[in-house]
Amino acid sequence: MPGFELIGDAEREHVNHVLDNGIFFRYEFANERKGVYKVRDFETQFAKFVGTNYAQAVTSGSSALKVALVSLGVKPGDEVITQGFTFVATFEAIIECGAIPVPAEIDETLNMDPADLERKITPRTKVVVPVHMLGSPARMAQIKEIADRNGLKVLEDTAQALGAAVGSKITGSIGDCGTFSFDFYKTITTGEGGMIVTDDPKIYKIASEYADHGHDHNPNVGRALEGRSFLGFNFRMNEFQGAVGLAQLGRINKILEIQKTNHSIISNALSKLSGITIRSLPENGRDSNTHVCFFLPDADSALEFHKKVTAKGISAISFKNNLWHFLGNWEHLINRKTAWPGVFPFGEPYYSGKVDYSPSTLPVTAGLLQRLIVIPVSLRTTTEAAQCLASDLREIARETL
Ligand SMILES: Cc1ncc(COP(=O)(O)O)c(C=O)c1O
Repeated sequence: MPGFELIGDAEREHVNHVLDNGIFFRYEFANERKGVYKVRDFETQFAKFVGTNYAQAVTSGSSALKVALVSLGVKPGDEVITQGFTFVATFEAIIECGAIPVPAEIDETLNMDPADLERKITPRTKVVVPVHMLGSPARMAQIKEIADRNGLKVLEDTAQALGAAVGSKITGSIGDCGTFSFDFYKTITTGEGGMIVTDDPKIYKIASEYADHGHDHNPNVGRALEGRSFLGFNFRMNEFQGAVGLAQLGRINKILEIQKTNHSIISNALSKLSGITIRSLPENGRDSNTHVCFFLPDADSALEFHKKVTAKGISAISFKNNLWHFLGNWEHLINRKTAWPGVFPFGEPYYSGKVDYSPSTLPVTAGLLQRLIVIPVSLRTTTEAAQCLASDLREIARETL
């Protein structure tokens, strides 16, 4: 991670095609654009990579979540179960739809705990949003089985795990719908951007029209002359983003290969030490290897380890106190401070149920996060540098444990 570490001639060349014909808008201008459709081509190639029938590009991973939730039929007052360890955008997107995010615990995969998902289902639940955190897949077989048994749709938030998989299925293609982010820190980047993927033509049609002010998307009629059947909004990706996305997608196999090499050097060095437990993968799970994630025996040793590695200048993340990725630290959500406090979506008549956001509501997640250390895997790290990093980490672990 991330794609911005590999920007070069391919990105420049694709962007120049857009500048050369002067059409920055993804639709219309059939004569002027001389066959250049960057966003459309990015969608086609992205769908091919992920293995779905459809892909719809949008402005961000956050808007992809919102558009996907709308396309799955989520409406004000519905409950959507997700996990309390995620970027806050997953919760914000649910709230943007007027729906209520219900937090579930994570397990040692750092992703949704299927047993807790089952406990959190109520008659109001509509959709389940597992998040593939830090490059690695959730327990999708169990999550899907529970969702199917309860008549719920599954939306995979795959913002952080492009290229991960369970068996032969790439993450994002396993549930009813998947979303991706191409913000500046993601595996491939378009600066800002997002994608929704699905095999379902109905979900795709709503997503593509909702993201474009509700314009009917009928390939046989020129856009802007056609009708519309509902109000949407503007979440359109532009041609510059599509151009960079195409170039970045062309690098995906190389990115995944470098991540795999560097990740295995670091994780192999650590996994042999007693007291260190590498995060779990679900059965047949394949990591995209953006981060090496491991647990120390307790909070004190994790704190000491974190202090020592950062003092040595090594980049390491401790998520327990992170303000953006753990519900226990979201004082705005805990106090239900939306842009419409006291009204939307937590006030009557939108919602008459009960949801618990108290900082103590996810004890298992809090316990796992305080033992967790995360080392980002850089694409710029050479094999030799990865070996040095691994030996420094092993040394500090030996001193600490
Ligand atoms: C899990 C997760 N979901 C959604 C998003 C939102 O993506 P974006 O920044 O493109 O809006 C992010 C971004 O960090 C994320 O990590």
